[in-house]
Amino acid sequence: MDIQTIILAAGKGSRMKSELPKVLHCLAGKPLVQHVIDSCQSLGATHCHLVVGHGSELVREKIDGGKLSITYAEQTEQLGTGHAVKMALPALSDNAPTLILYGDVPLIHADTLAQLVKLYEENPQGIALMTCDFNDPTGYGRIVRDENNQVTGIVEQKDANDQQKLITEINTGILCCNSDQLKKWIGQLNNDNAQQEYYLTDIIEMAAKDGQRIDTAQPVNLYEIEGINTLRQLSELERTWQRELANQLMEAGVTLLDPNRFDIRGKLTCGTAVTIDINFIAEGNVTIEKGAKIGANVILKNCTVGANSEIKPNSIVEDSMIGTNCSAGPFARLRPLTEMQNNSHVGNFVEIKKSTLGEGTKAGHLSYIGDSEIGQNVNVGAGTITCNYDGANKFKTIIEDDAFIGSDTQLIAPVTVGKGATIGAGTTVSNDVQPGALCISRVKQKQIEDWARPTKNK
Ligand code: UD1
Ligand code: CA
Repeated sequence: MDIQTIILAAGKGSRMKSELPKVLHCLAGKPLVQHVIDSCQSLGATHCHLVVGHGSELVREKIDGGKLSITYAEQTEQLGTGHAVKMALPALSDNAPTLILYGDVPLIHADTLAQLVKLYEENPQGIALMTCDFNDPTGYGRIVRDENNQVTGIVEQKDANDQQKLITEINTGILCCNSDQLKKWIGQLNNDNAQQEYYLTDIIEMAAKDGQRIDTAQPVNLYEIEGINTLRQLSELERTWQRELANQLMEAGVTLLDPNRFDIRGKLTCGTAVTIDINFIAEGNVTIEKGAKIGANVILKNCTVGANSEIKPNSIVEDSMIGTNCSAGPFARLRPLTEMQNNSHVGNFVEIKKSTLGEGTKAGHLSYIGDSEIGQNVNVGAGTITCNYDGANKFKTIIEDDAFIGSDTQLIAPVTVGKGATIGAGTTVSNDVQPGALCISRVKQKQIEDWARPTKNK
């Protein structure tokens, strides 16, 4: 079925006290409104009408519709939620189920929306409305029902009388109705209320007066309908969501040493028997295969950690591939396009960029390896540096299988160290080294007997 969605995202969000349009603030590393768009996609909606106003240029720039075709409707003046919907009407298909969502209510699940659409289909001339029971309903629109428990209207906090303020069933703002009906009702809105706004919520009373039934559905989780108005609320919802993601992983058999000190900003896929220590951050697409261990304070971004590998504390891995039975860190930095093949090892204070480490190769201490291709079972000694950049161009270093690079070696790229070659400690390698050779560039050691150190002037 052709479901259309309207997402209201024009508000300034003045309570955020921020220059950034509210809906572009990130939750779990993704703009609020993008969460809503992604849920619309998962629902299988075909079209999304995004009502933008404040910072609309930036919103258009940052949003990724994916499979969804997005039409933008500009609302230059924010005259209320009903007015915002009105801006989207011209582009709306006729006689189509239409779902209205809010750009600042990010965590609504596609499953919950599907339930609402199903409810709508049973009564396609009426309205399916998402409501919720709150202990403290302050600030929300209240659902007004008649003696037969039928919904007859919504009254906003600012317009509610004392008795209505006691109602705990609130309007989440999310609803589904037919686009023809919506056009008719929106056409009849006025701004005769406490805020002098065109309230979308007034269509409920209109529908009831038209003799149409308003059916209600509730979300499975409260966080799904929580809206963001302040940075504090944003941080609270962030924690709620991270805890939810942590719970899902633990239920799937992942050990989290502290689920409260754990953040996913993207998608994390874990095998079985994975252990993750505290202050872990996953960004983008991260895969951790079975039996792998992640130490404290590790950041993984767009990478794969192979089975039974270990990333030790305080390491950062970005756009890289780590094979099985590898270890990296503590304090390792693997920059984009690093590939550690199986059984390789990188130790503390080693930085690697755009390089491959072959199987069984080790770089244990204090090194920079850039633009390099290192074969199997190579030993890269402490303090080895590839000099890959002349200030203008980058050059490649090739180290063949079984080579031994002594400590404090500089490899001036482009350069190749042949298979099985040995580089003596402290060597500056500026020419290719033949397989099996020893290369050493150390100056002969001098010794001056009975050396008197300079003394300070009194
Ligand atoms: C609205 C509902 C209220 C409900 C609450 C749920 C109305 C009149 N009230 O109140 O019943 O309980 O949501 O969170 O609908 N927006 C625009 N253009 C505008 C006004 C708003 O795009 O002219 C957008 C905002 O950016 C926001 C959303 O609509 O994403 C909701 O607006 P907001 O002013 O926050 O509505 P509430 O007063 O919270
Ligand atoms: Ca308001």
